[in-house]
Amino acid sequence: MKKIKLSPSALACDFSNAGVQIKAATDGGAEYLHLDVMDGIFVPNISFGQPVVKSLSKCCDLVSDVHLMITEPIRYIDDFVKAGADIITVHVEACEDVRATLEKIRECGVKAGISLKPKTDVSEIVPYLDICDLVLVMSVEPGFGGQRFMADMMPKCEFLRDYAKQNGLDYEISVDGGVSAENARLCVESGANVLVAGSSVLGKENIKEAAEKLLIAARG
Ligand code: DX5
Ligand code: ZN
Repeated sequence: MKKIKLSPSALACDFSNAGVQIKAATDGGAEYLHLDVMDGIFVPNISFGQPVVKSLSKCCDLVSDVHLMITEPIRYIDDFVKAGADIITVHVEACEDVRATLEKIRECGVKAGISLKPKTDVSEIVPYLDICDLVLVMSVEPGFGGQRFMADMMPKCEFLRDYAKQNGLDYEISVDGGVSAENARLCVESGANVLVAGSSVLGKENIKEAAEKLLIAARG
């Protein structure tokens, strides 16, 4: 089984104090830093772009886990690689040529991830799993933090875990949206090993404790 990793979502940060908050999450056991880029077109919200990804990637030693919720992300891969991304995840619904986009990410020397919205069937991403390092299962409608976890997305994780085993593939499975200490174990039991958490970690008063609590719950 893969190591369980916490990827706190910077969307829940107080950006004027992000360095301190990310350090607290790191002290609590976080290994990745989830960076949600939104363009106001693919999703109905705008978050931040390359300058913020660059500053936050530089201010810590965490793996920079960039989630692009933007239309035709292939246009910006070079920019986010330059900004310090270690993993770049794109949405299957957002790319005209999904394979070319994932190949481009890998050609730049970073890990390639694919994501799907709750209403998108997992079969839509199957043709690309052979070139994915990570699969990000959305457990809320992408666009906003603080939404309710959709437990009915867990069969997607189970499918992805079984598919990897049957086909000799080695991607990580990540769950994003509404993840907390209450459902972290369910995510892991369903096959996920990377847990993205915004409000339940960086949105808390005591961030270190919240990160620790989530990881303890995840490990069961
Ligand atoms: C939603 C983003 C998530 C979000 C998670 O579109 O992809 O990463 O920040 O936030 P919480 O954990 O609060 O649902
Ligand atoms: Zn995200």
